Amino acid sequence: MIGPSNLRWVIFLALALIGSYPLRVIHSLGDGRNHGQKQKQQQRLLVPMTLVRNASSLGAVCLDGSPPAYHIHRGFGSGLHNWLLQFEGGGWCNDVASCLERSRSRRGSTRLMNKLEVFSGILSDDPTMNPDFYNWNRVKLRYCDGASFGGDSEYKNGSTVLFFRGQRIWDAIMVDLFSEGFLLAQKVFLSGCSAGGLATFLHCDDLAQLIPPNASIKCMSDAGFFLDVGDITGNNTISLFFRGVVNLQGVQKNLQAICRSFQDYLYQCFFPQYSLPYIRTPYFILNSAYDVYQFHHIFVPPSADPRGHWNHCKLNPAECTGDQINILQGFRYKMLAALRRFENSMNGGMFINSCFAHCQSELQETWFAPDSPRVHNKTIAEVVGDWYFERNVTKEVDCPYPCDLTCHNLIPAAQGPRRCNVGASVTIKRIRMLILLFLVLL
Ligand SMILES: *[C@@H]1O[C@H](CO)[C@@H](O)[C@H](O)[C@H]1NC(C)=O
Ligand SMILES: *[C@@H]1O[C@H](CO)[C@@H](O)[C@H](O)[C@H]1NC(C)=O
Ligand SMILES: *[C@@H]1O[C@H](CO)[C@@H](O)[C@H](O)[C@H]1NC(C)=O
Ligand SMILES: *[C@@H]1O[C@H](CO)[C@@H](O)[C@H](O)[C@H]1NC(C)=O
Ligand SMILES: *[C@@H]1O[C@H](CO)[C@@H](O)[C@H](O)[C@H]1NC(C)=O
Ligand SMILES: *[C@@H]1O[C@H](CO)[C@@H](O)[C@H](O)[C@H]1NC(C)=O
Repeated sequence: MIGPSNLRWVIFLALALIGSYPLRVIHSLGDGRNHGQKQKQQQRLLVPMTLVRNASSLGAVCLDGSPPAYHIHRGFGSGLHNWLLQFEGGGWCNDVASCLERSRSRRGSTRLMNKLEVFSGILSDDPTMNPDFYNWNRVKLRYCDGASFGGDSEYKNGSTVLFFRGQRIWDAIMVDLFSEGFLLAQKVFLSGCSAGGLATFLHCDDLAQLIPPNASIKCMSDAGFFLDVGDITGNNTISLFFRGVVNLQGVQKNLQAICRSFQDYLYQCFFPQYSLPYIRTPYFILNSAYDVYQFHHIFVPPSADPRGHWNHCKLNPAECTGDQINILQGFRYKMLAALRRFENSMNGGMFINSCFAHCQSELQETWFAPDSPRVHNKTIAEVVGDWYFERNVTKEVDCPYPCDLTCHNLIPAAQGPRRCNVGASVTIKRIRMLILLFLVLL
């Protein structure tokens, strides 16, 4: 019999069969049963949040007016005076409505954020998981401005106030870190994922001016190489969107002056492909040539595919038609073309693999693990480390899909990231759900 209390479970489980969110719940039920996995989870490094001191005196606040924050895990041993700064990612907002919505979420307010962050992959403190940077000071800069730490403006209308203070947040965090030992920095590595990867292009050369005279600095963008590309209908989806972000949030004046002087429109310097040629600091570009965020939101956004012809292909590359794969190869080709000049740079590095992923440095399984993605049999951690420490040639470009068998395809669903290695594992989970649903009905 289905009683009223069971009914909630039935609805919940029925939704699970359709939606993706509860799949993650099942996933964690599975983890609960697996003792080994659970122990491994408990060992994960959780780092508490630090609110930036004196931020309000610099006018550095999140969209909602809350103080900005970072998470710091101290360096030790030979890494005591080395610093890895990692910008958090999380999209952008381009108009008052979307920024208002964001200001009421964890993306726009430190009040609503998790106060403990998992430090894994490039942030891990374990030499077997992060061979080159494990003993550095590692800092994760929380993202709460909606313009890749680049804006400086505000919006007021009646009782509605929005603060666009990304640039001041960046400045205030650096002021704070100076009193935390950054003053003695020897080696510096500025990195970030997604919108945080894009932030590295905005701030890499700034930071090079700030570091102590004897220190060295390099920068890396992970999944931040957002292309200026039309969508499949030829619409300028991303350039209209970025123009909105830049104009609303007052990013123009913080874009690199030299880049601005060479573009037709200032907002274009928000695109990495236009600013990269003017950046003087050594750079590493880590990106998938089929970056799933760009695929789903820039190249084939819902507005360009109202009938959902791409839905299956988006969720599982194995279900793409031949035509769709050809169109995706065109996207890869454009990315490689935009990087061609960079490929000849003296001190640059790159790792452009052919996986369906977005952000590969912060996840242990993609950064450095026995089965993590490789190009020419080298993991991302190895190539990035070889480049940073100048141990070897470090420009790796993968062969086109589907040649790479080492990929971890990390396909996000509507409600957050979800692992989706192969269609089969999802099917197995759905069958498991059906059995559960059946038991509840009994
Ligand atoms: C905060 O600002 C005040 C006044 O500007 C200054 O005296 C103090 O040292 C600052 N504190 C930190 C931690 O920077
Ligand atoms: C201010 O808010 C009012 C009411 O929400 C709206 O009608 C008006 O267009 C807004 N003005 C501006 C400049 O955004
Ligand atoms: C600067 O770097 C050089 C070479 O690495 C070193 O010999 C020197 O002691 C450093 N100076 C300071 C002030 O740290
Ligand atoms: C182009 O993009 C804009 C903004 O997303 C949208 O309003 C418009 O309908 C799109 N046009 C086409 C032909 O897709
Ligand atoms: C790939 O590298 C691993 C060590 O990282 C090595 O054990 C393996 O033999 C290599 N495979 C090939 C085909 O070179
Ligand atoms: C440098 O890379 C080449 C080719 O990837 C490899 O054969 C060689 O062992 C590497 N050298 C070092 C010192 O890692």
